[in-house]
Amino acid sequence: MRKLIVAANWKMNKTPEEAGIFVEEIKSGIADANADVYVFPPFLALQTVSDVLKDTDVKVGAQNMYIEDKGAYTGEISADMLQSIGINSVIIGHSERRQIFKESDEMVHAKLIKALSKGMTPILCCGEDLETRENNKFMDFINSQIKSAFADVSESDACKVIIAYEPVWAIGTGKVATGEQAEQVCASIRSTIEEMYSKETADNIHILYGGSCNVGNAKELFSMPDIDGGLIGGAGLKPEFVDIVHCKEK
Ligand code: 13P
Repeated sequence: MRKLIVAANWKMNKTPEEAGIFVEEIKSGIADANADVYVFPPFLALQTVSDVLKDTDVKVGAQNMYIEDKGAYTGEISADMLQSIGINSVIIGHSERRQIFKESDEMVHAKLIKALSKGMTPILCCGEDLETRENNKFMDFINSQIKSAFADVSESDACKVIIAYEPVWAIGTGKVATGEQAEQVCASIRSTIEEMYSKETADNIHILYGGSCNVGNAKELFSMPDIDGGLIGGAGLKPEFVDIVHCKEK
């Protein structure tokens, strides 16, 4: 039985001070959830948010990292640096990184391998843009993103990855995928994992949905058989996140 996972990706929002105030406000609400809860603040707020949440089970993760341990990579942050302040989970291959910062499938794959080699929990994002959806090529597209990311990942490492299906057309647009649309893709991702590994790994791996997820639609989405929770953007910056974390309990 897979446990519900609810994660907030804050993207480039909140100063350390704002992050500290907000997380104090929602701390008790997210700490007592019947779910694994993750918060992904910007790098600069990681320490503050970790300090506030240190006596809870809520996990604090990074939104990105680089594939090398150190060196001449201006502007980048390594897994070792993150782990030195107790950060052990990281979002990899978010569509904003792929589209705005031109991260290729190869780079996403290399980051996944690096995170796993460091014992970190990667949240691997995949998802199609509107054109790919309208051309009805989205299933092949997403499954090729998954196959490329998981190439050479061992079965014992594969089930440590959390996959997030985030259709680009649903991110920040208010245009949420229906439960059926999201389920169709998440079920297909699970079949791809079964093909690559085994039924056991496919049954154990967590697959989340992300894209305009909010308190009004989370319960329906999280009740789909192959959707194990959500990666929440805008609504994760608001007190509403507490209600999303608890949505299946009501
Ligand atoms: P929104 O919930 O704001 O659409 O963002 C989703 C997302 O990109 C989470 O990573």
